[in-house]
Amino acid sequence: MITRLLGADDIPAAAALIRAGDIVGMPTETVYGLACSAYDADAVRKVFAAKGRPADNPLIVHIADPAEWSPLVTEIPPLAQKLAERFWPGPLTMILPRTERIPAVTAGGLDSVGVRLPAHPLAQALIRAAGVPLAAPSGNRSGSPSPTTAKHMLDDMNGRIPAIIDGGDCLCGVESTVIAFDDAETVRVLRPGFVTPEQLQTIAPQVIVDGAVLSQLKPDTVVRSPGMKYKHYAPKAAVTLVNGDAAHFLSYMGKCTGDGVFALVFDADMPACQTLRLHAVPYGDTDEQRAQAFFARLRELDEAGAQHIYVRAPRTDGVGLAVYNRLIRAAGYDVVTL
Ligand code: TXA
Ligand code: MG
Repeated sequence: MITRLLGADDIPAAAALIRAGDIVGMPTETVYGLACSAYDADAVRKVFAAKGRPADNPLIVHIADPAEWSPLVTEIPPLAQKLAERFWPGPLTMILPRTERIPAVTAGGLDSVGVRLPAHPLAQALIRAAGVPLAAPSGNRSGSPSPTTAKHMLDDMNGRIPAIIDGGDCLCGVESTVIAFDDAETVRVLRPGFVTPEQLQTIAPQVIVDGAVLSQLKPDTVVRSPGMKYKHYAPKAAVTLVNGDAAHFLSYMGKCTGDGVFALVFDADMPACQTLRLHAVPYGDTDEQRAQAFFARLRELDEAGAQHIYVRAPRTDGVGLAVYNRLIRAAGYDVVTL
């Protein structure tokens, strides 16, 4: 199979593939997704196979209009409704008990489903043209960095799927915020994203960031979100996440020498890195820039032959929390605090 790159004009052709039970690469504002009809269990199985994803890790279901939500879940609590009004279209996924409309395979065997309404116009156009909600995990091979360009998705999926719609670079660069509801007033953040805990707090009376967001799960922990327990986002190179200010980071890097050693740093660190002749690559100066860039940088460093990447850790508030959460997993929890 040759994987074709499609453009905005090819939405009808991509929708026809989905209606015929096939799977298609879809741009969203967060990362590229691997989309199929959420109602088609056989197509969903193709998604799991193309990604190499464990069957117990559920897919997010994407809708194009808030009215498409109610057939998928048993009930929409008032707090969820308010959050949808504030954050949809956008990078927020809400987990609620599912109806029979969602096949068990789509939900990874769980009795709930995560739903989101993406902001990307091509994602919305594809959902509308297909006429069904689209199940779509991130479009990487399981465990690899998520794809933020059509080329990254092609690198992972070439020959495995019929087509990818090229919608350019993803604006957020990090996957959606995933939340569950502990009770009528309490939101639990299972995966941080561009919609931050601070923003959720403007609507929800109580916001809890799940303990697994910032630390490693103990073996045998029962997880609220199966994705929490798998190795994730990792390039081929080893990754170490380094917490510390610029001066400490640079002096630490002075001791980490060797051919395949690279540093992933803030833009402002670059002049000092050049003085020290470090192989350094910048990933932005703001949390938003770093979110947009870090998956792409990890892929590029693999292509440059990196053996070990030392990453200057972002902050753990705002959008920084989302980047930090992905990086501790990319590092396999190899985190150094200076
Ligand atoms: O931004 C995104 O969310 C992207 C784009 C394509 O929309 N999609 C994405 O999907 O990141 P995926 O499958 O790579 O990550 C979904 C995460 C997983 O960690 C999964 O375990 C969790 O959400 N999840 C999905 N449905 C769930 C459910 N019903 N209960 C608990 N966790 C769920
Ligand atoms: Mg993923």
